[in-house]
Amino acid sequence: MNMLAALRNQMIFLTQFGKQFETTGSLVPSSRFLARSVTRYLADRPDRPIRVLECGPGTGAFTDRIIRHLRPGDTFDLVEINESFVDVLKERFSCESRWAAVQDQSQIHEIPVQDFEPQAPYDYIISGLPLVNFPAQLVAEIMEHYFRLLKPGGTLSYFEYMYIRPLRCRLARGAGGQRVREVSRIVESWIGRQGVARDSILLNLPPAWVQHLQADPDTGLAAADGRLQN
Ligand SMILES: C[S@@+](CC[C@H](N)C(=O)[O-])C[C@H]1O[C@@H](n2cnc3c(N)ncnc32)[C@H](O)[C@@H]1O
Repeated sequence: MNMLAALRNQMIFLTQFGKQFETTGSLVPSSRFLARSVTRYLADRPDRPIRVLECGPGTGAFTDRIIRHLRPGDTFDLVEINESFVDVLKERFSCESRWAAVQDQSQIHEIPVQDFEPQAPYDYIISGLPLVNFPAQLVAEIMEHYFRLLKPGGTLSYFEYMYIRPLRCRLARGAGGQRVREVSRIVESWIGRQGVARDSILLNLPPAWVQHLQADPDTGLAAADGRLQN
């Protein structure tokens, strides 16, 4: 991407932050260091064809990294709620050579991820959703949905800004405080059960933690959970 296009995407991000603060969740796109961390399990991919889902790609900070790991025969789905970001992504798939090379195996879905019902489960889910901004019930729904959409042994990688959730848990009062504490309880419980690693990324604005969670490798639990079957 050239400098001008990068600057224009930054401006679109900033505008969407103003218009849709809750779902956009940040002032600027994530850094390449954060993108590298959130895709590090994908970088260790097996030789067979894989299925990858990106949730909340925005202007494509993680997408640009994900596509480097795609090979012919893989499937890549992107789920984005915001029409302005969808337009940016479509343009990048048609104008940037590295993106255009994987266009045939990639599909953008303009839909909230909680309503996305694919035909088959994924090996990797990479999420940029700002869960800390959402109602607790939606966070519970999205986390359950992610694990329904993962293959047994599949990996979910997502990020959150460092210390924001614990700080808001301590400092926020009233209904807002209750909401963020409930969100925290939900994500901590998933991390406690399925978490496999956490990276600290200082070179991002603001610095961020990347959480990596893994679905149980045994299919028995998948069936009990109603997880999608291969
Ligand atoms: C913090 S931005 C991250 C964008 C990009 N991944 C990055 O790191 O620069 C959050 C993104 O999630 C999208 N989003 C928020 N809620 C969503 C939902 N329920 N379903 C799909 N996308 C959603 C927003 O529109 C936005 O693109």
